[in-house]
Amino acid sequence: MNLAEKTNLATAPLDVPTAIMQRRSTRNFKTDPIAPELLNKLIDLTIAAPSSWNLQSWHAVMVQGEAQKAALAEAAWGQKQIIQAPVTFVFVGAAYIWQDKERWQQICEIAIANQAWNEEFVGFLNNGMPPFQEGLGEKNREYAIKDAMIAATHLALAAESLGLATCFMNGWAEDQVKQIIGIADRDDLAIALVLPVGYTDEEKPSPGRLPRSRMISVGTLDNLYTG
Ligand SMILES: Cc1cc2nc3c(=O)[nH]c(=O)nc-3n(C[C@H](O)[C@H](O)[C@H](O)COP(=O)(O)O)c2cc1C
Repeated sequence: MNLAEKTNLATAPLDVPTAIMQRRSTRNFKTDPIAPELLNKLIDLTIAAPSSWNLQSWHAVMVQGEAQKAALAEAAWGQKQIIQAPVTFVFVGAAYIWQDKERWQQICEIAIANQAWNEEFVGFLNNGMPPFQEGLGEKNREYAIKDAMIAATHLALAAESLGLATCFMNGWAEDQVKQIIGIADRDDLAIALVLPVGYTDEEKPSPGRLPRSRMISVGTLDNLYTG
């Protein structure tokens, strides 16, 4: 059974290079809902993202109700794609979640059950991870946001591959977004990204990107790539 059959999709998923090149930040969505099995597929592909120490230092809150969507759009200076899209994911970086010993134990148990880690490797991680994270100090926030952004990028590309559109969004007031998802008093949590997901109602070209030589260097930053 291929992925299209497993997820009841009408068409086969796009391959990764096509999804990357075809994805656009959509600012006009249809209000059509996303089928529950498709949403679950998307969620599984998001959770599959890699993370530092496999800590998975993020949460995503799905905003779906009309009143909550309206509040979130207001927190994003009226950006209407949040109101149109059937679901908007708010990605949250969890800076100190590594201190949750029971959660860490579950991560280790799953990896051992998958035969990806053994007891010796878990011992190595148990010695290394807490002091590393402790030493990060204020950078714990930054590291959690990295994990959250990688997960959000997985979601966006998986969505494109499965026939859905997204819009990466940074334009919002963090305090308001935190209030809307019920974490106003949590200094350990940071909003990383807001990502509406749904069916696009527009077709538009890519704005394009800078040439390789502006973006890529070899060895040192001043040695521009010419290939
Ligand atoms: C981190 C990030 C934040 C962004 N924030 C917004 C936003 O608040 N509103 C919006 O309409 N687009 C936002 N964008 C979309 C960018 O404008 C868009 O990615 C860029 O113009 C390139 O277009 P493309 O995504 O269609 O390739 C954001 C993109 C990124 C990666």
